[in-house]
Amino acid sequence: MSRSNLVELAKRRGYFFQSAGAYGGVSGFYTYGPQGATLKDNVEDAWRERFGVQEGHREIDAPTVMPEAVFEASGHLDTFDDMLVACPECGASHRADHLIEDNTDIEEAESFAPEEIADLVAEHDIQCPNCGTELAGEPVEEFNLMFETNIGPGDASTGYLRPETAQGIFVEFPQLAEYARNQLPFGITQIGKAYRNEISPRNSLVRTREFTQAELEHFVDPNEDEPLIERVADVELTLYPAEKQAESEETEYVTRTVREAVDEGLVHEWVAYYLGVGKQWYESIGVDMDRFRFRQHLSGELAHYAADCWDAEGEIDGDWYELAGFAYRSDYDLSKHDEYSDDDFTVFKQYDESKVVERATVDPDMSYLGPEFGGGAADVAAELELLAERDRAAFEDEAVTVSVDGEEHEIPTEKTGFAVEEVKETGEQIMPHVIEPSIGVDRAVYTVLVHAYSEDEVEGEQRTRLALDPGVAPTFVGVFPLMDKDGMGELARELTDELRAEGLAATYDDSGNIGRRYRRQDEVGTPFCVTVDYDSLEDSEGQRASERPSGDEPRGYTVTLRERDSTEQVRVPVDDLPDLLADLREGETTFSELDAPAAEQ
Ligand code: GAP
Repeated sequence: MSRSNLVELAKRRGYFFQSAGAYGGVSGFYTYGPQGATLKDNVEDAWRERFGVQEGHREIDAPTVMPEAVFEASGHLDTFDDMLVACPECGASHRADHLIEDNTDIEEAESFAPEEIADLVAEHDIQCPNCGTELAGEPVEEFNLMFETNIGPGDASTGYLRPETAQGIFVEFPQLAEYARNQLPFGITQIGKAYRNEISPRNSLVRTREFTQAELEHFVDPNEDEPLIERVADVELTLYPAEKQAESEETEYVTRTVREAVDEGLVHEWVAYYLGVGKQWYESIGVDMDRFRFRQHLSGELAHYAADCWDAEGEIDGDWYELAGFAYRSDYDLSKHDEYSDDDFTVFKQYDESKVVERATVDPDMSYLGPEFGGGAADVAAELELLAERDRAAFEDEAVTVSVDGEEHEIPTEKTGFAVEEVKETGEQIMPHVIEPSIGVDRAVYTVLVHAYSEDEVEGEQRTRLALDPGVAPTFVGVFPLMDKDGMGELARELTDELRAEGLAATYDDSGNIGRRYRRQDEVGTPFCVTVDYDSLEDSEGQRASERPSGDEPRGYTVTLRERDSTEQVRVPVDDLPDLLADLREGETTFSELDAPAAEQ
């Protein structure tokens, strides 16, 4: 399948298209049309159900603009960079690591340093994709991907559009921990827009400048909490570990269940748990599991916050794309916000039984420190307190040395009030660790569409089909009158309303011949079509709205139900239709389990 076929269909049928086309469009921004917006909503709902409801995690909704201090603490200001090389001739900017991947056999060039990339550009005579100018010798620079903005007028403060939804969860941790009654483990989800000023957006929804992330931050006590592995123990994972990527030119996978992957130490237990959940979810929305794998990050590729990370990847036209990251973020983010902000990002963990422990304390003689250090006395006292906690032996000599603002001071030990006492402790403050499944919603939608796309022939006619899973298809059922005459249109319109009232996404169509109407629905991915025909009319004698007593529902006629993928048809009583369709949508019955198929109309 060519990607351009899908992009063409997506625009023509209202899935997605480049935004602001009337003004020439802007690279990296897309609008979802009526079909696409519903598909995306359905994918998001499925994510909420699997990662939120079924796991017992709660969702929040934080702002997309955040103050600079947040990103100073998180490290994004310093390290959230991609490698840029600019063409000296036409001025076009390119992502240097992507040029290497596109022009050589090297994969994952992101893991190289800028100097190595510059050497590779020269070694492989890489040219500007825009104008063909040699890029050898051009500097490869780090470019920060965050969009900067001003918050407020006048002396505005600097803010940034969030590059990941995650920070909106981390900065609110003290409040969120309170809602969780300070009980670990607990998980918080968020789904919303993220922004990255990508150097070269590409492949339509795959790399955009505004996109939707669905993220879960699961806060755990690393010493005590364990995932409920048995819930996903038997889920089979196609794994591509870092060592296999380094070892061989051939792509060599390791297939293991979640349980085996944990037992063999291939994947950290928490990450493995979410790989299992992730696989179930991707499968449920219609990603083809023969074109899906989990690839471990190489060490140079890890984000600044990640201790380990596995990406879910999907295959499109022979290339593999990152769909999601499943990262072990350790306590990186909470420690940083704890250090940089005024709040406490730890939780108090109560012991099962209280413990008696020795604690070293100081009670400095301020009548000595005051005259000696003036305004700096409080800082010296604070340093003494820290030193007592860290290094009791420092108080064994006659004088203790502390450093304040780079200057060393000697204090007679007798003036520090140093003592070691026994105290009863009921618990301790701990810094939770974080496991983060971070899913790109747009890439999920794109992959679902690409994997669903096919072209085949039906009764000698070419058809394009989107085999979307009934659970996410934007339109679930098309309702047609064979012709809009003799009352068939009236019955079909009534039936459409009835199905909608039952919560089924139904569309009515009476334009063109019936074969064309089927093809149209096949192309937008509608799993089922219902046709009201002359047989229905005959069965429905006296059943049209205009003929029956007011308030009475039509009863007893039959319709043709057609399945998109097999094009098979069955005749079903209209009264059974809402329940039958609901069962088909929920996967509680399959089309082949219905009565013997009728011939295609
Ligand atoms: N909080 C972790 C995080 O943001 P990431 O790997 O940078 O990790 C997670 O992003 C997911 O977000 C990716 O796997 C991808 O699906 C999606 N994503 C990232 N950048 C994107 C872009 N420019 N366009 C579309 N989706 C993107």
